[in-house]
Amino acid sequence: MLVTPAHQYPTGVVLSARRRIDLLDWARTSGAYVIEDDYDAEYRYDRQPVGALQGVAPDHVVHAGSLSKSLAPGLRLGWLVVPPALREEVVAARARSDRFTTSIIQATVAEFVQRGDLDRHLRRTRRSYRQRRDALIAALRQHLPACRATGVSAGLHVLVRLPDGMDAIHLAATAARHGILLQPLDRYRSSPAPGPHPALVMGYSRLTSHHIEEGIHHLATILNSGGVTTRPVGDDNG
Ligand SMILES: Cc1ncc(COP(=O)(O)O)c(C=O)c1O
Repeated sequence: MLVTPAHQYPTGVVLSARRRIDLLDWARTSGAYVIEDDYDAEYRYDRQPVGALQGVAPDHVVHAGSLSKSLAPGLRLGWLVVPPALREEVVAARARSDRFTTSIIQATVAEFVQRGDLDRHLRRTRRSYRQRRDALIAALRQHLPACRATGVSAGLHVLVRLPDGMDAIHLAATAARHGILLQPLDRYRSSPAPGPHPALVMGYSRLTSHHIEEGIHHLATILNSGGVTTRPVGDDNG
């Protein structure tokens, strides 16, 4: 089972202690493996870091980390901590897929880590992403008080719940024509039908606080101009 327990993508929910225990019990009794995708572990703001599942059940959990959030997705560098019983098979599968990631990039990143530069970079970016996150929440409170941001305590995105009945897909399309790029939560559903609770996924890592404020202000203007359609409440199709 593949999970993002520390910060579910895209809702930002943290897997509760009860569910973590149930998940690991299930893995132990059924002989299954849990793949723990800890994709944004480096960015936790105002809560204690959630311990990795892997540390609790190392024989049943594959822990996956990535430099995509903290350095650059273009590096294509990540890591796996695998249960000893799977190690050989995973190494063989990796070799069959594309041999290895470019040595020069791996060597450069290794030096970056050894010199303490990654730690420094993380401390700096944690501060700046937190400021951007705070700017987004403040702008939402000011310009869109009927919307509620959730999943805000970690990562590089928040989920913004819109008032019931609002058409998030239409709103995102209208905002895009004004240069504001947002993803409707529906984009992440397996069913093509829109969900019951309209919401937008907003990433903030690449924007300055000023641009965030400006963007949310602009979004509020679009919403208040009445140019966005609504749909009947309660039409959940799964
Ligand atoms: C849920 C999730 N898992 C993993 C990743 C990292 O993927 P990759 O290391 O392939 O860039 C991301 C990146 O955005 C993500 O959102």
